[in-house]
Amino acid sequence: MSAAARILQRERRSSFLVTSATLLRWHRELVKRKWTPRVPSSLVGQDSVIEPGFSTAYQDWDRRWADESERSDWREPEPAVVELLTRLWARQASHVLDVGTGIGRHALFLAREGFFVSALDASPTGVEVARKQAKAAGMAIHFRIGPFVPFPYPDAAFDFVLAWNVLYHGDGRTARAAFAEVSRVLRPSGLFLATMLSKRNAYFGRGQEIRPDTFVIEGDEGDKSHPHFYVDASTLLDMLGDLSMLSLTDLEQGQPGSCHWVIVAERTS
Ligand SMILES: C[S@@+](CC[C@H](N)C(=O)[O-])C[C@H]1O[C@@H](n2cnc3c(N)ncnc32)[C@H](O)[C@@H]1O
Repeated sequence: MSAAARILQRERRSSFLVTSATLLRWHRELVKRKWTPRVPSSLVGQDSVIEPGFSTAYQDWDRRWADESERSDWREPEPAVVELLTRLWARQASHVLDVGTGIGRHALFLAREGFFVSALDASPTGVEVARKQAKAAGMAIHFRIGPFVPFPYPDAAFDFVLAWNVLYHGDGRTARAAFAEVSRVLRPSGLFLATMLSKRNAYFGRGQEIRPDTFVIEGDEGDKSHPHFYVDASTLLDMLGDLSMLSLTDLEQGQPGSCHWVIVAERTS
């Protein structure tokens, strides 16, 4: 059996998947009853409600979003997001979700292009900065502060879900739960554009492996002091579940060695 298959088998056996499935089932029940989950204020700025202690990098991002000089690299939309516009128009997409919106560069761009935009992030500072920009531009973006699992949105609510440099913050179980949430909130023919950390990334294998393929670099001045999850193509395919892969590219983001998967997938049914 390959190492990847062994990891998958171990993850399938683990109790978290039961916990995660149960949480998602409760979530669906509650959404059916028109209840919207709220992150208790005690958790905002602390931990993910589903995986305390693992998806914590937003704490570092919250600190960075407060600093104008840190924000300057995160103003312009990514070319991959801009390029997807024609496909979104062709599918007559209208409702979009930006998961881990940061300071909202993609949420603002998509709202400007005429989409109804919802945006989620666990960093209150990031959301505040984004909210102010939207207000100044007269844009009605629906922002929420909270963790990315579970998504606080009903089933089949969106034609497009974007998660740029977000869903690898945590371990494999958090990422799988988030992918399942993407599938749940997408409408049939809905598109998903995301990045994930590739195992070709220079940081893969550095620091302490706290969970399979999940590393923490103690003392790192950036967000790598929080868990980051790395994947190969076969794991990604498996994680997509009932979403169909449309394209998959392993690209360096700016610096050499900064390899990220760029995933475009669709919900077929
Ligand atoms: C690298 S930034 C990307 C921001 C944005 N997607 C962009 O491309 O401009 C990662 C963002 O993910 C958010 N994030 C990290 N972990 C999160 C979690 N568990 N729940 C919600 N947001 C999270 C951080 O707060 C941060 O704003």
